[in-house]
Amino acid sequence: MKIAEPQARFLRACRGLPVDRTPVWFMRQAGRYMAEYRALRQRYSLLEICAQPELAAEVTLQPVRALGVDAAILFADILLPLVPMGIDLDFVKGQGPVIGNPVRSPADVQALRTFDPAEDLSHVMAAIRLLRQELPESVPLIGFAGAPFTVGSYLIEGGSSRHYLHAKSLMYGQPETWHALMEKLARVQAAYLLAQAQAGAQALQLFDSWVGALSPDDYRRFVLPHSRDVLDAASSAGVPLIHFGTGTATLLEDMQQAGGDVIGLDWRVPLDQGWARLGTESAVQGNLDPLALFAPEPERRRQVDRILDQAAGRPGHIFNLGHGILPQTPVEHVRAVVEQVHARALEPAQEPIL
Ligand code: CP3
Repeated sequence: MKIAEPQARFLRACRGLPVDRTPVWFMRQAGRYMAEYRALRQRYSLLEICAQPELAAEVTLQPVRALGVDAAILFADILLPLVPMGIDLDFVKGQGPVIGNPVRSPADVQALRTFDPAEDLSHVMAAIRLLRQELPESVPLIGFAGAPFTVGSYLIEGGSSRHYLHAKSLMYGQPETWHALMEKLARVQAAYLLAQAQAGAQALQLFDSWVGALSPDDYRRFVLPHSRDVLDAASSAGVPLIHFGTGTATLLEDMQQAGGDVIGLDWRVPLDQGWARLGTESAVQGNLDPLALFAPEPERRRQVDRILDQAAGRPGHIFNLGHGILPQTPVEHVRAVVEQVHARALEPAQEPIL
């Protein structure tokens, strides 16, 4: 037996190793669709939960207890590192993130502070250390950060955006400023990911949620080198890296070039076709439509089965949604998906893992 092989299903699948059942977890598995979370949110804001390690750890554990998932994702937000960079960040009900001082000029980029994540985001590291004590070996902890494009787009727009008017204007009109911002974000996010691994995160996911807004040519010129810098630096942590985006059907090969052991696939790409394009050197994560969780049981079961059929028991598939769980999702449907995925034993039968 090779000593270095991980035993947890999720970590084995990240490495393309055979597993007994397909590991499953959900993006945004902690959140408003759970009554336990809503109860805590009556007393604390999102940023307050993130700032208190005991609360962040508790919220991280809620879906692990309720759903029986194969991985935990740290409760935090991709925008948290903006606070020590000097950004005025708030989450406004019904509106999402709001940035009081958007970044749109060379001076704005210059003014952004780089920082030491182990110190300035020490509450995040403390939550990770707490969670590593509480989680069983079979449920690894995923740390994460936002990719330079996705975080940069919030930073430039001042919040969520539909057309990325300000972000793309900066990208096309002031490419030097754009690249300076991306470089700064890449440096910060790489250090943040490494600090999370150092604190105990057993896998790291880079969220480039909105990168599907770009053409392949723009992705290659304006984003890929910066995402690659983050993933290259993070790879020295020695834990699996997951590279995720949505609307990425035309970007998959380029995202793979940028890096990551596991590539996220959203529901717009059939899992087998996406995986065939990436080849056996990549593991894949996905790709149920989050809206399928609202479907009646037969339709939901059909969609889950279709994904498992397309993965065909090949090592290196992590079952997940193509994007995050929506707040209105019925919890019992989420739990039923975990049970359905776990009910399917994979062939050929595995050697027992000691
Ligand atoms: O369970 C988990 O997935 C861990 C926690 C987590 C949160 N945000 C908590 C959160 C994670 C992994 C994120 C990542 C994140 N944050 C992304 C990338 C993933 C994705 O969905 O694409 C993005 C783009 C953000 C930025 C962000 N944070 C937005 C746009 C919003 C508002 C929209 C919304 O869902 O309300 C947030 C707020 C946020 N982050 C919530 C949670 C649970 C909801 C806040 C609340 O309780 O009111």
